[in-house]
Amino acid sequence: MKGKITIAIDGFSSCGKSTLAKALARALNYKYIDSGAMYRAVTLYALDKGIIKDGHFDHDFLVKALPDITIDFHFNTQTQKSETLLNGINVEDRIRQSEISSLVSPVSAVKEVRIKLVELQRSYDEHKGLVMDGRDIGTNVFPKAELKIFMTADPEIRAARRYDELIAKGYHTTMIDVRSNLAERDHIDSTRADNPLTQAEDAIILDNTDLSPQEQLAFALNLANELKQI
Ligand code: DC
Repeated sequence: MKGKITIAIDGFSSCGKSTLAKALARALNYKYIDSGAMYRAVTLYALDKGIIKDGHFDHDFLVKALPDITIDFHFNTQTQKSETLLNGINVEDRIRQSEISSLVSPVSAVKEVRIKLVELQRSYDEHKGLVMDGRDIGTNVFPKAELKIFMTADPEIRAARRYDELIAKGYHTTMIDVRSNLAERDHIDSTRADNPLTQAEDAIILDNTDLSPQEQLAFALNLANELKQI
């Protein structure tokens, strides 16, 4: 047995990355880190401090504020869910709101934001046994990850899943808004200058358009277990 490995899951918005990553981490007893939550937390900070106003952000003000931002994760044993802490405060619900989704891609394209968050992301891999999802995990954060999965799904299916998820959480939205937010984020995330979303050469593609969460977990778990035994 080779022991624990690092698993990088990348892909477009609302492809089910976090569903798979959480399930994999649970099945393997690994740590799960949601790198997108970190970019969302920085965006929320910028919004609360007036660095983002009327949909636009002040680049220099944001870069100056970065040392004041700390991000941690806390596992809530009561809800059995991970919570994102921004400067010690649980912001898990706030960072999932549509307003943050519509502002996060431009903020995550800022070089200095990426440098800070990539450093933090790498610090979680000290002892392996990690599943991290995002956009540049296999290409940039952990280029040596033993298992890299690149997730994709039909855009209409992704929009419908995201819409259902938001409505179930009680947020008000429309399919038109969800579709346009996903398309815009995919475009910005894939075309930004620093570490854009691309498939790592050694990543395995997982198209889950027609797969249930159980089926995609079985597929990924099989890959992980094979690698652990090399
Ligand atoms: O996974 P998510 O939708 O919560 O991510 C929110 C945004 O954060 C996404 O639109 C792009 C950015 N992001 C990134 O640039 N790099 C990552 N590794 C993860 C997320």
